[in-house]
Amino acid sequence: MSASVAHKRIAIVTGGIGGLGTEICRHLTKAGRRVVAVDLAAREERVAQFYEDVADLGEAISFEPVDVTDFDSCRQLVSRIEAEHGSVDILVNAAGITRDASLRKMTPEQWHQLMQVNLDGVFNMCRNVIEGMIEREFGRIINISSVNGQTGQFGQTNYSAAKAGVHGFSMALARETASKGITVNTVSPGYCDTQMVAAVSEDIREQIIASIPVGRLGTPGDIARAVGFFNADDTGYITGANLPVNGGYFMSF
Ligand code: CAA
Repeated sequence: MSASVAHKRIAIVTGGIGGLGTEICRHLTKAGRRVVAVDLAAREERVAQFYEDVADLGEAISFEPVDVTDFDSCRQLVSRIEAEHGSVDILVNAAGITRDASLRKMTPEQWHQLMQVNLDGVFNMCRNVIEGMIEREFGRIINISSVNGQTGQFGQTNYSAAKAGVHGFSMALARETASKGITVNTVSPGYCDTQMVAAVSEDIREQIIASIPVGRLGTPGDIARAVGFFNADDTGYITGANLPVNGGYFMSF
């Protein structure tokens, strides 16, 4: 580690080489953080692509393999990062999958796989960084939910339940840590231009785009900017909030 990055705050981004994750990593690195992107090791081509995509950012960003569904792997990951780079100050939980099917067709596997990644993953990572953040009286946790956790979506009882759960988790943890210099917030992306949305059938995707007031899919940059806002050192008075970034697709009080 060079002297120039030694003082930077350390950020972990799960799903860090995914559609939204890579851009979140880029944004946090440019905001002066030392970023560790974590994701499944098995995705070798994506890891290679990630290093190409962030080559301009130098040694302030790197990749570590982890399966967020495995509590012990998450614990070991955090210990390794703390030993190598320093305390973990920022955690972005962006790892997520879809297993779309109407409930009448959904298998228990589709339900459980999704819960393990999208909800257990958030617990596994938060549980392993929270003690250090409390000790050091500083932390920024940003959980990525979804518009479909707020509105529900046909074919997504599993995803909508997990994503609504993510914000419930954020609010509860925000209360537990508010007096310790830690903020816990949720960013709820709408439909974005990623592979996850590209996997939806073309006719349904077109209907969705037609119902977005801004008139287009979101970009990973739209989401990364919102995450960047919550990650800042001087946003300590905002906690337990849910920021929708969805082109006006869903509005509420
Ligand atoms: N809305 C309303 N009705 C629908 C429907 C929909 N989206 N999809 C299917 N139906 C209707 C069909 O017209 C059919 O009606 P009839 O029985 O009257 O003929 C019936 O429901 C068929 O039901 P099935 O259980 O057989 O559904 P299916 O297997 O045909 O389709 C599905 C299920 C593939 C999940 C499909 O509904 C779908 O693609 N839904 C959208 C899922 C989606 O938006 N995913 C988002 C992924 S991106 C993401 O999640 C990122 C993020 O955070 C935003």
